[in-house]
Amino acid sequence: MQNQPIGIFDSGLGGLTVVQEMRRRLPGEDIIYFGDTARVPYGSKSPQTVFRFAFEVSSFLLRFEPKLIIAACNTASALALDKLEKQLPVPVLGVVEPGAAEAVRRNPPGANRPIGVIATEATINSHAYARAIQALAPETPIIEQACPSLVAVIEEGRTSRDPIVRMLLIDYLEKIRALNPGSLVLGCTHYPLIKAGVAEVLGDHVALVDSAEATARAAEQRLAQQAALNGRAAGGRLQCYVSDNPQRFREVGSRFLAEPIKDVAWITPEQFFVEQDQPTPQPVP
Ligand code: DGL
Repeated sequence: MQNQPIGIFDSGLGGLTVVQEMRRRLPGEDIIYFGDTARVPYGSKSPQTVFRFAFEVSSFLLRFEPKLIIAACNTASALALDKLEKQLPVPVLGVVEPGAAEAVRRNPPGANRPIGVIATEATINSHAYARAIQALAPETPIIEQACPSLVAVIEEGRTSRDPIVRMLLIDYLEKIRALNPGSLVLGCTHYPLIKAGVAEVLGDHVALVDSAEATARAAEQRLAQQAALNGRAAGGRLQCYVSDNPQRFREVGSRFLAEPIKDVAWITPEQFFVEQDQPTPQPVP
């Protein structure tokens, strides 16, 4: 069990922010990552479609006999985690609960300040973060805001200093800022990359919660409870699979991972369900 890999998936390359945290926290673990780059974005799709995609991708990951699957995509976690947990034969961890718990923990106690959540449209419409926060802090007001344009501009390579990013943040965060939240969940895989811009707009009295960090901590705890942590202090391998355009994944993804991406293989959605006894696809050079 300890030597089995951890499967991590996302709608595209944003989940590499979770991989980065996992590799920092658990450098000895082998990770198999799947980015569904042919079908990204999930954030504007229906719950039915997001579940189908998440289930197909997870089924592909099962081929590697993972000890844990992490739905690193906020949208997939918000819309599909319950069903994935029921239907997959391995433990599944999402990013919503760890992020929500961290937001509650970091909201200054007794000040009666709300908690803010920013995410894709689908995540906000599901109210999954609001439910998870309410379960832990029923009295705390919650403000949710969809930021549909942010994923595209971040993928373009625009950073916190970019005037377009700044303009979007000022507009999206206006309502949240006026209500003076104690903490704010960056409820989308891409947002940690513009954390500095969010901090600039909201001011440093708002604690920004990166669900990638919180999820990596939760994954470590979960594996420790199951005595499934790999004891190695270093040397964990990262193997990536994508459903389209491995070259772009390699180039743009290294910004999300903060290290060069070496092994990427291209698997089309039609190949997700090939027989188990067929050879596992190998990375393209
Ligand atoms: N990975 C998605 C999320 O965290 C953002 C990109 C998408 O819309 O698929 O919600």
